[in-house]
Amino acid sequence: MEHRTLGRSGLAVSTYALGTMTFGAEADEATSHRMMSQYVDAGGVVLETADVYAGGLSESIIGRWVAAQGSSRRDRVVLATKGRFPSRGVEPRDAGGSRRNLRRSLDRSLERLGVDHVDLYQVHAHEALTPMDETAGFLEDAVRAGKIGYAGLSNYTGWQTATMVALAAGRFPLVSHQPQYNLLVRETEYEIVPAAQAGGLGLLPWSPLAGGWLSGKYRRDSRPEGATRLGEDPQRGMEAYDKRGGSEQTWDVLEVLQQVAEGRGATMAQVALAWLHDRPGVGSVILGVRTPEQLEGNLGAVGLHLTDVETAKLDEASAPSPADYPYGPAGVAQRTRTLD
Ligand SMILES: NC(=O)c1ccc[n+]([C@@H]2O[C@H](COP(=O)([O-])OP(=O)(O)OC[C@H]3O[C@@H](n4cnc5c(N)ncnc54)[C@H](OP(=O)(O)O)[C@@H]3O)[C@@H](O)[C@H]2O)c1
Repeated sequence: MEHRTLGRSGLAVSTYALGTMTFGAEADEATSHRMMSQYVDAGGVVLETADVYAGGLSESIIGRWVAAQGSSRRDRVVLATKGRFPSRGVEPRDAGGSRRNLRRSLDRSLERLGVDHVDLYQVHAHEALTPMDETAGFLEDAVRAGKIGYAGLSNYTGWQTATMVALAAGRFPLVSHQPQYNLLVRETEYEIVPAAQAGGLGLLPWSPLAGGWLSGKYRRDSRPEGATRLGEDPQRGMEAYDKRGGSEQTWDVLEVLQQVAEGRGATMAQVALAWLHDRPGVGSVILGVRTPEQLEGNLGAVGLHLTDVETAKLDEASAPSPADYPYGPAGVAQRTRTLD
């Protein structure tokens, strides 16, 4: 597996991280342990979780796996978690970016993970009631206390990212941003990617397969069924079947993805991952899997780099179509300067 330093920091990460949102939910503990071993044996080092995944069970499952490893494997792992949403035992009114909530969330995460610090602690999303300086103050103190090595953001918009970068300067190492980013969600490129790049933050894209869509398993002519995310709940999340399947562009992207995959002798999932892996600003792509077989297949993307022609085809099919202003042609022209 390849490695990069994350954002403007010295933290080395493998360019594919293992997401653990399915642990304790779609994947039981034994399967989750098997997938972590499989991932680390393939050279991966980043385990990515959150206090809210499976009500805290994801972190506990990781903690038990980490505790069972020998020191060389354990020391290799970069542990990343997130806090901010109402986790178990937290009143919704208390959830958010306040010192009180984040302190308690972090302490509970450390307890479940069975460690005295995590390498990366990410604020799961901005929250409007807490002054951003308060959240920044918590992150600064957590770094000083040795409970977190680095801080990161997730789901922050462009202005929120830029504000937090300014607040962090000289106080604590803010190194990453975790947004949704994939071939079906490229609006992330309007503000979030440039704000992260300008602020020296490495991107950790979530839902690289758009919740399973980019594996090619969902069809236009039949509603999903069986043990798949949308088979179990067609209305689940941002990837809901009617919402994503209702867009012509979704099917256009899948068609081009299939063509590129066939030309490469790769799976559609591998090509979608490789496309994202080489986007500007990306640090580590967060893999999401339910089974060891899916993980094995997706790890086949390791070492796969698309040609310029393949990338251009996918870029064209997946380009979002913003209105003229501010992200469309008129807005872009206003902000452009040419020297010739
Ligand atoms: N910061 C945030 O707000 C946020 C939000 C979401 C996720 N995340 C992080 O990002 C990680 C990945 O997100 P995600 O799970 O949405 O990623 P994803 O890669 O877009 O979707 C993963 C799902 O797609 C299906 N899948 C994966 N590989 C497949 C294959 N080869 N063939 C067929 N189906 C396949 C599986 O679901 P089924 O088999 O069940 O269909 C799997 O659980 C999470 O684990 C979490 O760490 C963060």
